[in-house]
Order: sequence, then C-alpha cells, then structure tokens
Amino acid sequence: MNAPVPNEPPPEDIILRAHGLVKEFDGRRVLDGVSFDVKRGEVLVIMGGSGCGKSTTLRILIGLEKLNGGRAWLFGKEISQASEKEFNALRRRFGVLFQSGALFNSMTVGENVALPLQQHSDLDENIIQIMVRMKLEMVGLTGFEHLKPSEISGGMKKRVGLARAIALDPELVFYDEPSAGLDPVVSAVIDELILDLKNKMGITSVVVTHHMDSAFKIADKMVYLYQGRVLAYGTPDEIRNSDDPIVQQFIRGEPDGPIPLKTSRDVYLQTLAGFADERIDKT
Ligand SMILES: Nc1ncnc2c1ncn2[C@@H]1O[C@H](COP(=O)(O)OP(=O)(O)O)[C@@H](O)[C@H]1O
Ligand SMILES: [Mg+2]
Repeated sequence: MNAPVPNEPPPEDIILRAHGLVKEFDGRRVLDGVSFDVKRGEVLVIMGGSGCGKSTTLRILIGLEKLNGGRAWLFGKEISQASEKEFNALRRRFGVLFQSGALFNSMTVGENVALPLQQHSDLDENIIQIMVRMKLEMVGLTGFEHLKPSEISGGMKKRVGLARAIALDPELVFYDEPSAGLDPVVSAVIDELILDLKNKMGITSVVVTHHMDSAFKIADKMVYLYQGRVLAYGTPDEIRNSDDPIVQQFIRGEPDGPIPLKTSRDVYLQTLAGFADERIDKT
C-alpha cells in the first residue's frame, strides 16, 4: 500500500513532499525513513501511538527541527536548502496549531489573532481589526475579541488558536493533536472547521491525531507511523482494509495484538534514558 514517493522535487500540485525523513536525538533514531506526499486541497492525517514520531515529523516540516537524513519540499522548495530568509517566506504560507494552543494569556483573544498580521504584514491597524473579526467569525467566535484566554473554555481556546493559525490566509495548516483534551462534541467542532477550511477556502491540512473517529472523518490520505516508520499510507478505505495486523489493532483500538502493551523493564528504562538501541517489538 505504501505508494512510493520519488526522491525528486514534486510536481506543483504536491504542496508538501517528505522523502525518507530521518531524525536522531542523541544518537537515537526516532524517524527512520518517513515518506509521504500532500496534494493541494487535501487533508493528510498522520496517526500512530504515543512516541512514534508524529510531532517530530511536524516540527521538521515547519522548520523547528533539522533533518539528519532524507529530504522535504514545501511549496516546491527543499527545506534543508532554504536560507533563513527563504524559509521565512515559506513560513508566511503555512499556519500551525500547536498541541497546547499556545495563546498569550496576557493578551485578549483579538490581540492574539492580530499578532501574526502585525508581525508579518504592513496592513493598517483598522484593516487588521477587520481581519481579526473575520477570522474569529470563521471559527464561530464572533464578538469574543475582548475576552482573555482565561475567560473562555479549552475548546474555544483551540478555536482562537485556529483563527490565529489562519490569520495570514495560509495555503497549508499543520495541526498537532487539535482535539487532545477536548470532549467529543468540541473535537467534532474542530473536525468540522478543518473540513470547512478545505471546502470553502481550499486550505490544505496536515493533521496529527490519534482519535480514530476524527481521523477517518477528515482524511483524504492517511499515514500510519510506527516506531519512526510509515507502516501504512493511503486513503481511509485503503487503511481500513489494510492487512497489517498492527494497523488493524490501532484503528480498532484493541488492547490485544502485535502492538506491545508492556515492554521489558530494561528496554523501558533504556528508552526513558534515551539510549534504547533495541526496537521494542524485538523483545
Ligand atoms: N527534543 C527531543 N530530544 C530528545 N528526544 C526527543 C525530542 N523530541 C522528541 N523526542 C523523542 O522522539 C520520539 C518521538 O517523539 P514525538 O515525535 O514527540 O512522538 P509523538 O508525537 O508521536 O508522540 C520520542 O521517543 C521522544 O521522546
Ligand atoms: Mg506528539
């Protein structure tokens, strides 16, 4: 099922290409050849258990971590070849919704959303205020601009984070666990917003999640990461029909199967200490 991703600059409709990404921390390999393509207008979901390398993959693609191997192209530009100035230009074309939401608590909702516009555009303050209201309206928070993050719920904070992520009208938005810690109703609202951005504005999304319901609802393509490798890559139907028992166990959320619940104490301690050279599934 793993469609081969060529080791060459992608055609224009592929907004993002990862080819053989390798990342090591202190000699420990956490990404071991991760490849996928993301087409313009598509939602790609990256899923997998805790610690499999989902956030690291995102952090590489948004320029927060350096690659130890492999190549990635964002909007046709190879990121490891981009100068700081070139990467800053790329950065204006994508938005990021971090796991924590990462709002500034001392600033109002409106000021949080206005921040990227003030930092990265020369727009007049009046225009910025109009844009802030438009973005808040898009996430269903009309009239909330004067509140502080402490005065709104966790789900609303996520939506403010999303309004801020789309402030500069990005072509692509990265989400890291957008519904972590949210109740199912609120997390369904976030799913709807991701689909809205796609359907109404053609925004491409790369979404890390381990919520299977949400993954299958929003995805055009899915990547299943396991111990730093792509175990499955395809459409939701292809993933659903995967004959890989690890993938099946994960999407069904079953406790029994090839994904180990427990590992040996030594491997566990070594992993904690960050120098496990043995893959957990070999024990
Ligand atoms: N900055 C870092 N330094 C050392 N190890 C890290 C760092 N970031 C992530 N890791 C390790 O890399 C592995 C993958 O982490 P991560 O990408 O955050 O996983 P996921 O998001 O899938 O839960 C984990 O074992 C994690 O402990
Ligand atoms: Mg993570």
